[in-house]
Amino acid sequence: MKKIAVLTSGGDSPGMNAAIRAVVRTAIYNEIEVYGVYHGYQGLLDDDIHKLELGSVGDTIQRGGTFLYSARCLEFKKPEVRQIAINNLRKRDIEGLVVIGGDGSYRGAQLISQECKEIQTIGIPGTIDNDINGTDFTIGFDTALNTIIDLVDKIRDTASSHARTFIIEAMGRDCGDLALWAGLSVGAETIMVPEVKTDLKDVAEKIEQGIKRGKKHSIVLVAEGVMTAQECSNELAKFINIDTRVSVLGHIQRGGSPTGADRVLASRLGGYAVELLMNGETAKGVGIKNNKVIATPFDDIFDGNDHKFDLDLYELAKKLSI
Ligand code: F6P
Repeated sequence: MKKIAVLTSGGDSPGMNAAIRAVVRTAIYNEIEVYGVYHGYQGLLDDDIHKLELGSVGDTIQRGGTFLYSARCLEFKKPEVRQIAINNLRKRDIEGLVVIGGDGSYRGAQLISQECKEIQTIGIPGTIDNDINGTDFTIGFDTALNTIIDLVDKIRDTASSHARTFIIEAMGRDCGDLALWAGLSVGAETIMVPEVKTDLKDVAEKIEQGIKRGKKHSIVLVAEGVMTAQECSNELAKFINIDTRVSVLGHIQRGGSPTGADRVLASRLGGYAVELLMNGETAKGVGIKNNKVIATPFDDIFDGNDHKFDLDLYELAKKLSI
């Protein structure tokens, strides 16, 4: 392995820069040339591929976003388009590609390694959603979690002053992990996730009981995969007449400086991805399980269900918020 490339794809997440840095520095440490592909898979098509040096990743570990930029490239689903990407890698003799992103991004990597045996591919899980098989945690989840905690703590201050119920919408696509972990951390009265059905009549009753007990305010944290906060507020209004406000946290959740946990995770996974390429491995996604770095074939990541919603944690959060 003499030359590799790295790209970031899909929704960005804090810690992607730390992962790129680990890929670049591990490769150069092992005398491998590294190329950065700008703007995700689109950059592979546009030949936006540039050599990275040790200094290219200096002063990046603490930065949110991705200095390689990210994009969602639907065109990449076409085989003739992928051939352009493969040719752009081959003409530079690039033999390994590291893709940092979600499992949609892994699919592009899987296709490249299937269609060109000379190019090995490895995926690194980068998304705030924590929704990828083959890993307990994705890069960016911890930072987004802490961002939500900070924001909801602030909302709670004003909710308390005005004795209001706040319906707060968290990201996560179809996965409830962000809402669950954040909800537990902020002591939300109700956590709504796609993995567990919630009856809004019960939510209304719980708020009512709380008010009877002297509670002045309430936080309902709803994952975007369930419904919007506005829909939730409209539905709740059918059962209870209280002063509510809606807050959609939005893309703030994707930004900011990565936490220590994300920087360490990104560094471990970035370093491991390069080691796998050097060992001839391909079509695998790296991850962390029980604090050990592991690699899982893309096929098992796509078809598996090892990243299960933590029902015990959900039940605990429920018990603690009575
Ligand atoms: O996958 C990350 C994520 O932030 C999801 O939580 C969210 O549903 C989606 O991306 C938003 O995508 P976009 O940035 O295209 O609005």
